[in-house]
Amino acid sequence: MNNNEIQRISVWSRALRITHWVMAAAVVMLIATGWRMAGDLLPASTLQDDHFLAAAFLIPAFLLRIYLLFFGTGTDHISDCEPDMNRLRSAVAVLKYYFSLGRSPLPNWYAHNPLWGPLYLLLFLFFLIQILSGTLQQSHPYIGMVNLHDVHIIGAYVITGFSVVHLLAVFLHDLGGSGSDISAMINGHRIFILKKPVATQQSGEVQSVSLDELRRSLKNKMQDNNRP
Ligand code: HEM
Ligand code: HEM
Repeated sequence: MNNNEIQRISVWSRALRITHWVMAAAVVMLIATGWRMAGDLLPASTLQDDHFLAAAFLIPAFLLRIYLLFFGTGTDHISDCEPDMNRLRSAVAVLKYYFSLGRSPLPNWYAHNPLWGPLYLLLFLFFLIQILSGTLQQSHPYIGMVNLHDVHIIGAYVITGFSVVHLLAVFLHDLGGSGSDISAMINGHRIFILKKPVATQQSGEVQSVSLDELRRSLKNKMQDNNRP
């Protein structure tokens, strides 16, 4: 007989999900229009208009995400992405899962993936660099010795690479884990398979749980102590 409980816990706030999907759609369009501009495939003015339109969606969504990062609560806050010893151990387990091509178990975690959390912070830094170099490069091609166009191209490589690997990673997490990660980014709720249900408390928009209790109750031990 199977005594496991399935509990859906709200881990992503509506604001975080909206910023995620607006930024994701804008970045896909910026990548598509930017690289086509670099390859001169269409009249530059048409592509530039579309590039600016996508930038006009990216910038407010990014500013809201940065606001939440510093002034938000729960999993919106920067502390949910910061590494600590437990998360570093879990991050190593996630890497082992990748390198063993799924044969090593994927650890459990609460909200941000322990390996990817710090990488998202780095991505936000590159968004900032890209926004500044993009908005300034036509009026100020150089800042000191730095060519802003070159900075923008380097940023484009990093963000394009990140996006491809991110898609692959979230697909693998959804495949190898039980958290239903992709639908969680849509509806806010991750799935936890527990030996017994845990008490949840409403903390702003998301639910918080005692992570010790959650860790004890998880069917597969939770190695990460991500703070709700
Ligand atoms: C994810 C973010 C972004 C990516 C991946 C990206 C990528 C690119 C690429 C590949 C180019 C072509 C460079 C070339 O022609 O050699 C470009 C050009 C440009 N981008 Fe972006 N970009 C991004 C964000 C932005 C933002 C936020 C702005 C701000 C308005 C911006 C403004 C520009 C401008 C002004 C150009 C030059 C257009 C031209 O030379 O005609 N970009 N971008
Ligand atoms: C169809 C495309 C995408 C899907 C299905 C997707 C899915 C996800 C999922 C499941 C997470 C939670 C992962 C975790 O930390 O455990 C996540 C987080 C994140 N994704 Fe995506 N993603 C997509 C596109 C993108 C793109 C293009 C970007 C930007 C380059 C992006 C940036 C982020 C960021 C920054 C986070 C962290 C959430 C935050 O703190 O704001 N995603 N994504």
